[in-house]
Amino acid sequence: MGIGLGLIGCGSQGRYLSEAAAVTEAFELVACADVRAEAAKRAARECGYSEACGDPSELPARAEVEAVIVATTHGQLFPAALQALQAGKHALVEKPMALRAEEGRELVSAAKAAGVNLMVGYSLRFMPPRILLKRLLDAGAIGEVRQAMAGQCIGAMGGWLGDPAQGGGPLYYIGTHALDQILWVVGKPAERVSAEMNRAAPDGCETEATINIRFEGGALGQLVTSQTFGGRYGWLDVLGTGGRLRAQWESDVLTVQSTVVPEYANLTEISVPPTAYLPPAPASAQAKLSGFAYIRTWANELAEFAASIREGRPPSVTGEDGLRVLEVLDAAFESARTGAMVTVG
Ligand SMILES: NC(=O)c1ccc[n+]([C@@H]2O[C@H](COP(=O)([O-])OP(=O)(O)OC[C@H]3O[C@@H](n4cnc5c(N)ncnc54)[C@H](O)[C@@H]3O)[C@@H](O)[C@H]2O)c1
Repeated sequence: MGIGLGLIGCGSQGRYLSEAAAVTEAFELVACADVRAEAAKRAARECGYSEACGDPSELPARAEVEAVIVATTHGQLFPAALQALQAGKHALVEKPMALRAEEGRELVSAAKAAGVNLMVGYSLRFMPPRILLKRLLDAGAIGEVRQAMAGQCIGAMGGWLGDPAQGGGPLYYIGTHALDQILWVVGKPAERVSAEMNRAAPDGCETEATINIRFEGGALGQLVTSQTFGGRYGWLDVLGTGGRLRAQWESDVLTVQSTVVPEYANLTEISVPPTAYLPPAPASAQAKLSGFAYIRTWANELAEFAASIREGRPPSVTGEDGLRVLEVLDAAFESARTGAMVTVG
């Protein structure tokens, strides 16, 4: 029997994650819900949920739902996830998980109190070149990490993604991915932050943001995000005491140069095929996997969510990881507002 899965928020990402869940064959798609009834019906029809619930607040109470995916608009992630966790359901919550660290803390506590898993949708960690990058780091291939620079850019954001009241803006939407990448590779607590942000209107979402971070032990991080760059571009550069690593969004190439590993003494480009490091997909899922490229990445993420539930262990991306991103973001928004350096947490 697969893990009984419910979906809260049946927009584009909710449906992609459902497709990815089906690919893993680890879940049984029980029910889906959205504040827009037609979106829930569409997800049921297209993704194979047995039922579309009219009222999202009803879904977590269902006994046959053991785990949920929460993929609502940003401002609704926190209340929807909190309700599911308090009902004793494992939850994969899309990033940024909540809008403030205080809310993030509440989610982490609720998951602990209920004894369930809280995973956050930082899916870049499941992209094959980033998986190899982290493995090389952990193996000491570039020594100790001293600086990490990541960016994630996108075109102009409209609809709810352009509305600050709903958690719009590039920082929450894509900057959180890049920030999580920095925290992931540095692996130390962030101590203080300074940030600069530009806005088209004083009460609008940020158009461009740069955040500088100082970590315990002295490592430095820098995050860049933009919706005026005009296209999709993302990167992660890691500088260590013994070399450097670089991954770029939507590229299969990982760049490495190392004074530690003789094989990488010269600048080396490693091509990491999209199939690398993924759990084997059943033959029945091959057609889906050959479609939209990110389904592979999300299937990898969903496979980890399922495995963590089955094995009774924390997932590889935890609620605490999500909370650390929110703590830096809180500090960054304050720094951009006041012009001062802000202590994290
Ligand atoms: N990890 C990734 O790579 C990735 C990619 C894209 C989007 N996302 C994330 O996925 C989430 C959803 O984004 P999207 O692009 O699907 O947006 P979307 O607008 O397509 O879908 C959001 C859906 O949530 C519904 N909704 C809003 N409030 C709700 C509530 N209280 N209960 C139930 N449903 C509710 C809306 O009606 C809508 O159908 C966001 O957190 C976004 O950042 C992640």
